[in-house]
Amino acid sequence: DAADRGPYRHYMLKEIFEQPLALANTLEGRISEGHVLESFLGPKAGELLAKVERVQIAACGTSAHAGMVARYWIEEIARVPCAVDLASEFRYRDPVIEAGTLFITISQSGETADTLEALRHAKTKKIAASIVICNAPESSLVRESDIALMTHAGPERSVASTKAFTTQLMALALVTLLLARRRGLTAEKEKHYVKSLLSASAKVEQVLKQDDVLKKLAERLIHKQHALFLGRGTMFPVALEGALKLKEISYIHAEAYAAGELKHGPLALVDEHMPVIAVAPRDELLEKVKSNLQEVRARGGELIVFADQDAGFQNGPGVTVIGMPHADELIDPMIYTIPLQLLAYHVAVLKGTDVDQPRNLAKSVTVE
Ligand code: G6P
Repeated sequence: DAADRGPYRHYMLKEIFEQPLALANTLEGRISEGHVLESFLGPKAGELLAKVERVQIAACGTSAHAGMVARYWIEEIARVPCAVDLASEFRYRDPVIEAGTLFITISQSGETADTLEALRHAKTKKIAASIVICNAPESSLVRESDIALMTHAGPERSVASTKAFTTQLMALALVTLLLARRRGLTAEKEKHYVKSLLSASAKVEQVLKQDDVLKKLAERLIHKQHALFLGRGTMFPVALEGALKLKEISYIHAEAYAAGELKHGPLALVDEHMPVIAVAPRDELLEKVKSNLQEVRARGGELIVFADQDAGFQNGPGVTVIGMPHADELIDPMIYTIPLQLLAYHVAVLKGTDVDQPRNLAKSVTVE
């Protein structure tokens, strides 16, 4: 076992550092000359995708967060209506599943009971096709879906999912571009997006170099009881994922909110004991996020902000800014997840928890 971990103390850290390679592997053989190849989805793909009018995503845990990011992409870039559900809710709420639905499940293991049952339920309706985004080739979800899109992340051993998540995002970005092309995405735009996907590995590599900075930052969280994560747009699910990582392995109570919801409740919790962690790349929402953050500062909350190095955020009393590499908006979710994984990891190590096997949790939940 120790040999498998190589120089790393835990599988989680090894898997975090494998992400540049895993992301490159997920793209391998699937793009050519600025173009996403539809053929990698198999011979039936063209015919099935032609029938798609809307998308329904179902998944659990970290995989559900990947689905939430994809919803922003699928609607904004492909202009296809998209809904996302937790699989455990979807299967019991008697959802309306219309003809023309592309049903996407996302699962690292391919064996999560609720996700599998959600697929089985959807297949009783007249859906256009089912796709699973999965990391386990021999799994039930792969067997039972029309199309399997493998993430090629390699085996993930740590219970807290890391490289599975970012490679799911990469796979979902490819699906988004295929759908978008059928809805009139120009070759020029597609080329731009493909270029940005190709740059993801190197950007992630750059962020991994900040490991020591995050280790230092982790010291500030170990005695906290709670933490609040904020983000807007695709950064909202990234914030959810950051909060999930922290609570899973460090046992600190962490919650994530869409930054615009701050004043509708969580602001009441903010005082000097509540660290607030914001993911705020340079995008059109930046100014709004800035004003949310002022509200936090005004109440004495300690702020940690992950922002584009050119975004104009300044370090100051109670405000720590961690500069992130400038990247295309499409790949921001892959990049901004990395420091949140590292932060959770170092907090857990400092607290002495069982990082790879957190209490009460399983890698794959195959029973209800
Ligand atoms: C468990 C794991 C999580 C994972 C979730 C969904 O709760 O601990 O890390 O995100 O299951 O698993 P899946 O294999 O379907 O992605």
